Amino acid sequence: MDFDPSTGDPALSHSPIKAMVAPRPIGWLSTLSPQGVANLAPYSFFNLVCDAPYMVMFATSGHKDSFNNVRATGEFVWNLVSEDLCEAMNTSSGSAAPGVDEFEMAGLEKAASRSVAPPRVARARAALECQLDQIVDLKSDDPTRRNSLVIGTVRSVFMADGAIVDGRFDAAGVRPLARLGYRDYAVIEEIFELMRPS
Ligand SMILES: Cc1cc2nc3c(=O)[nH]c(=O)nc-3n(C[C@H](O)[C@H](O)[C@H](O)COP(=O)(O)O)c2cc1C
Repeated sequence: MDFDPSTGDPALSHSPIKAMVAPRPIGWLSTLSPQGVANLAPYSFFNLVCDAPYMVMFATSGHKDSFNNVRATGEFVWNLVSEDLCEAMNTSSGSAAPGVDEFEMAGLEKAASRSVAPPRVARARAALECQLDQIVDLKSDDPTRRNSLVIGTVRSVFMADGAIVDGRFDAAGVRPLARLGYRDYAVIEEIFELMRPS
C-alpha cells in the first residue's frame, strides 16, 4: 500500500513513519533556564550529525522549554539513557510547572558538567556537553506551533568508570535505550562487527 503522510490512512492506527525510521537514539537533554532552573527532557528527533567537529542535533515540535533554554543560554548536555534509566527518562517527558527542577521531578541526582553550566544526569553512563551552533526554523503544518532544529558542537565528553572496556565504549554492557514507533522502545544488547570492503 501507499501512504500519504499529510492525510493518514484509515487502515493504519497511526502514521508508520516513526516505526520505520527506527531505532532512534534518545537525546535526553539537560538545560538551564535563564533563571538557573534545571530542565530535563527526552527528544528522539536527535542524532550525531558530524564528527570533525563532533556535532549533534535535536528537533523540537513546538518551542518547548529545552529549546527556549538553549536559545537563551547557548548550552545543553546530552545524557545517555540506558535501560535502567527508562522510567526516569519517561517521567522527565512530563510537563513540570514553571520553576520546577525536572531532575528533582524525575528523582535524579545532578553532576556538574566540565565545560558548560547545565548539569548532567549523575547516573547517565555517558554525556556530551554541547554549545549551540545554530537554529534552523522548520516548516510546520500547524500555524500555532513552530518547529525548529537545533545544532550543537560537542565541547566535552563524560564516560562513567566501567563504560570503557579494552579501550572501547562498551555499548552492549551499557544497554542504551532507543526509541521506535508507537509506544515502543528497544535496548541495544546484541552487537556484531562488519568490516568494510577494502
Ligand atoms: C522518548 C521520547 C522522545 C521524544 N521526542 C521528542 C522530540 O523529538 N521532539 C519533541 O518536540 N518532543 C519529543 N518528546 C516529547 C517531549 O519530551 C515533551 O514534550 C517534554 O515535555 C518536553 O520538555 P521540555 O518542555 O522541558 O523541553 C519526546 C518524548 C519521549 C518520551
